[in-house]
Amino acid sequence: MSKKIRNILCCLCLSSSALASVFQPEEIQTLKKHLLANVLSNGAIVASPSKQHPDYYYDWVRDSGITMSLFAHWYERKPSPNLRKRLQQYVEWTKTVQNTPANPGFDVFGEPKFYVSGKVYNGPWGRPQNDGPALRGLALTRFAFRLLEDKESDYVRKNLYASSMDTREMGVVKRDLEYVAHHWRDDNFDLWEEVYGQHFFTKMVQYIALVQGAKLADLLDDKDAARFYRQESLALNNSILKHFDPNTRSIAATLPPHEGPQKTDELDMAILVAALLAEDNDSPMSLANPYLKQTVAKLTTVFAEEYSINQRYPNAPLMGRYPGDTYDGYNTGKLGNPWFILTAASAEYYFRLSASYKQQGAAQKLVLSTKSKGEQYLKIIKELAPDLYLDEQINRDNGTMQGANSLTWSYVALLRAIEAEYNCNP
Ligand code: NOJ
Ligand code: NOJ
Repeated sequence: MSKKIRNILCCLCLSSSALASVFQPEEIQTLKKHLLANVLSNGAIVASPSKQHPDYYYDWVRDSGITMSLFAHWYERKPSPNLRKRLQQYVEWTKTVQNTPANPGFDVFGEPKFYVSGKVYNGPWGRPQNDGPALRGLALTRFAFRLLEDKESDYVRKNLYASSMDTREMGVVKRDLEYVAHHWRDDNFDLWEEVYGQHFFTKMVQYIALVQGAKLADLLDDKDAARFYRQESLALNNSILKHFDPNTRSIAATLPPHEGPQKTDELDMAILVAALLAEDNDSPMSLANPYLKQTVAKLTTVFAEEYSINQRYPNAPLMGRYPGDTYDGYNTGKLGNPWFILTAASAEYYFRLSASYKQQGAAQKLVLSTKSKGEQYLKIIKELAPDLYLDEQINRDNGTMQGANSLTWSYVALLRAIEAEYNCNP
């Protein structure tokens, strides 16, 4: 078939499958608009506009890093001046928070959240949280790759990464990578800010940050740093393997023993989120990994039981953080609920799994049934959020939204799932 005809055919099927997708282009624009409302002009991103009950009006390093990874991905695909401006504002914001005075006794790089003025949050909190610099570094490494492709190495060397050991010159990405490379062994708080210890989620994002960072270091002729990041990533990989539990045949969120909430078999949706955030090619674990599959299967079974709302959705149960969660979006010690982030992560998972089955030449029936799971999740999300505002949680009994309103991460998770749906269309 000639290339031209193939292109025409490809366009045709893209447009017909676009029609078949759960969210329409105008709806996707609305979701993006709601997300952008939380991105401030100084580069800070509020986790939610909610200033009380609960107060989420801060820039959480994790939420922002995950958000900017999506922006960098968009920019990679199509560098537009508008996205460029947002990413550069995030670079400036990152400089501010990396240089702001730390809380006594703590390293500012392990701080989970900042006031939108750029000052570090100084109330009591679970600190350090070491996934933040990894996620931020990863987002900006992606941005750097695209800039280098576009021959913009001056901006990269001046702001993102330079082969120097002087913190004033090395750039925001290298500062994050240095922190990750030197601190990944430290105990710290998990992404849910509750458990102190060694976490699969944190190690996975640290691993990917170092692997990608080593590539960037190579491109910028920083050979020693590249070697160091690779060496640490290998050691990290060994440490990640400790989370694969041969007894349960699933993945442990935190290595026991640890304080804080105790989770059945250390099950937690953070495992899946980590797998999704790790880029395909360099991830230590594919999405088809049997341990991951078992982890998701067990979580699905438990949540189907735990949340009565799931009687409505027996084939695609809404997902929460972990069985027995007691955070209701306002206080702990209550009844936990399904979350948009984690329900959307399930959609993304099935779409990407379907695409990988297809690539491996698996049976059409498996490819389609897996994709259909993803679609069911998207349809449920649409049904629960008809005005396309997404809060943090979904009440476990009646399906109304609760917790922080218009949560940045909820939109990001849903937009990622929608992209995955698009990519898995023929
Ligand atoms: C407890 C929750 O479980 C945690 O995830 C949250 O970040 C804090 N409270 C603050 O709201
Ligand atoms: C609570 C979540 O547990 C945490 O992961 C998140 O960073 C903050 N909320 C802000 O959205």
